[in-house]
Amino acid sequence: MKFLVINGPNINFLGIREPSIYGASTYDDLINLIKSHAEKSGISVDFFQSNHEGAIVDAIQKAYYDKVDAIVINPAAYTHTSVAIADALKAVSIPAAEVHISDVSKRESFRQISYVRDVCKKTVSGKGFDGYLEAMDFLIGYLKNA
Ligand code: DQA
Repeated sequence: MKFLVINGPNINFLGIREPSIYGASTYDDLINLIKSHAEKSGISVDFFQSNHEGAIVDAIQKAYYDKVDAIVINPAAYTHTSVAIADALKAVSIPAAEVHISDVSKRESFRQISYVRDVCKKTVSGKGFDGYLEAMDFLIGYLKNA
């Protein structure tokens, strides 16, 4: 199984940005955590992070040609604004799970909208970095039963 983990704007600033919300661990720590989980689970994983909406759309389209089996995506702020990212996920029809490190349901009203939620098989929010692992486990189970 081939997974792609996509992270949106400012996720590369983990450890620097608002540690009281996102914690002290860095983006590299996140990648290492996911890599070791993927190894244990016997799946291959690639990573993509961008601060640019169109680059994320391009990465989702590329996943189609690369025959990616599942996408874990934290679109970050674009969650709440991007029809383009939601449309791209719908276009490629690759099973996807939405992840948020913080519990967006307990934050500002503008974070209550998610354009990607309806096109994802699952949303995990407020579980820190472990949320990415939960999303991966869910998608592994989903693919096994598909
Ligand atoms: C986030 C939540 C978003 O509202 C925010 O814009 C982010 C990160 C999260 O992981 O908790 O950048 O997606």
